Amino acid sequence: MKLILITILAAVISSNAKKLEEKYSWKELEYAWPSEEAKQEAIKSGRYIESHNLPLGLEVWKDKMFITVPRWKAGVASSLNYFVMSNDKSPVLHPYPSWEANELPEENHNKEHENYGGGRTDAKAAEKGENLLEKDSGKIISTFRIRADECDRLWVMDSGLADILGSPKQWAPNNIAIYDLNTDKLIKRFIIPEDQVKEDSFFANIIVDTQASDCSNAFAYLPDLGSYAVVVYDFKNDKSYRVKHNFFHFDPLQGDLTVGGVNFQWTDGVFGMALGKPINEHGDRTVYFHALASTKEFSVSNTVLKNETFATSSDAYHAYSLLGDRGSKSQSTAEFYDDKTDVIFYTQINRDAIGCWNIKKPYTPENQGLVDSDSHTLVFPNDLKVDNEGNLFVLSDRMPLFIYSSLQPEYNYRILTGKTSEIVTGTPCE
Ligand SMILES: *[C@@H]1O[C@H](CO)[C@@H](O)[C@H](O)[C@H]1NC(C)=O
Repeated sequence: MKLILITILAAVISSNAKKLEEKYSWKELEYAWPSEEAKQEAIKSGRYIESHNLPLGLEVWKDKMFITVPRWKAGVASSLNYFVMSNDKSPVLHPYPSWEANELPEENHNKEHENYGGGRTDAKAAEKGENLLEKDSGKIISTFRIRADECDRLWVMDSGLADILGSPKQWAPNNIAIYDLNTDKLIKRFIIPEDQVKEDSFFANIIVDTQASDCSNAFAYLPDLGSYAVVVYDFKNDKSYRVKHNFFHFDPLQGDLTVGGVNFQWTDGVFGMALGKPINEHGDRTVYFHALASTKEFSVSNTVLKNETFATSSDAYHAYSLLGDRGSKSQSTAEFYDDKTDVIFYTQINRDAIGCWNIKKPYTPENQGLVDSDSHTLVFPNDLKVDNEGNLFVLSDRMPLFIYSSLQPEYNYRILTGKTSEIVTGTPCE
């Protein structure tokens, strides 16, 4: 017994790697309703169904933590939210920028949806609603990922689609909303032109390429995981274009996933994307990317994506590179580059884990580090970001259980955190 204890202790000490710390957790999300009556009214009318509110994306700006709640099902109180970070373990969400912006018109939400076998592809059968943005350009319908840039702006990819798994309704075209985080005012709303949205298009992520020294010059990359392309939005010229490449497709052998005991098959293409450090005053940098149903990583220079003529011509094919393969069961949703450690952190959905890779090393399975893995707290790590102080934040939410079976009444949603310089200790990413 003693010997075993000593052996375990020695193993713990020798690895000395710091794991992620659980900072926030929720059994169900709570919102800051204007009043208790307003909440009860929303429950009664079906506008709020507590268990249908699943957090998905996160972003950190100063002391604010932004949390998105996509409208997968009916009864999402508010899709874009924040809370002020404190020691409160289960903070209440505040709609951003307001309740009004996040409110959908009154509908009959009392239908029960028990089986969601159809999954995300039901989205294409969406009924077209009135375009809410025509009446009120401030509306937020449904958002997955968001990004706060170097210029204190919050970029929101709004799919415009509500009740995705039930009776999907397209309340607005796919669009980008950009807020000034200092004033909480909407700066810009850009609708993705219809001819850049295909039948199976699914825009759930947004990556912003800009520099604090030149904020008017900004590009947003919008991976189309359902139709295998990247829509590039040019902020200065207020236009977008659709970029295609074979590397944006999924790997047919890597779409079989098992999460929390639930087995399912996905065909998601390009999704995770990370921007390297700018290498000159023009902001030239490497764009790393991967498809969700894949274990491979690719890269392309942002000078390619930012040049419409070149990016949309077949000449661009060889400007893209395969970096390598992470190894089996390493499918990933989000990735993020941390310039303090030169490490890209990424989620590993098929392993309940967070992985890392030091960009100075060859992209091989051996050079992939395991920051943390936990079959309880890291079931479906869905999003991750690194803040300006070098803190990694990871949101895990057991989403496949929410979609294909059901969540138990326990802590299902978590945000874990760790100092990037500490969590890479003892891993190949150091
Ligand atoms: C964009 O690419 C084309 C080649 O297709 C090149 O002639 C042009 O100079 C590039 N523009 C910029 C701004 O780099």
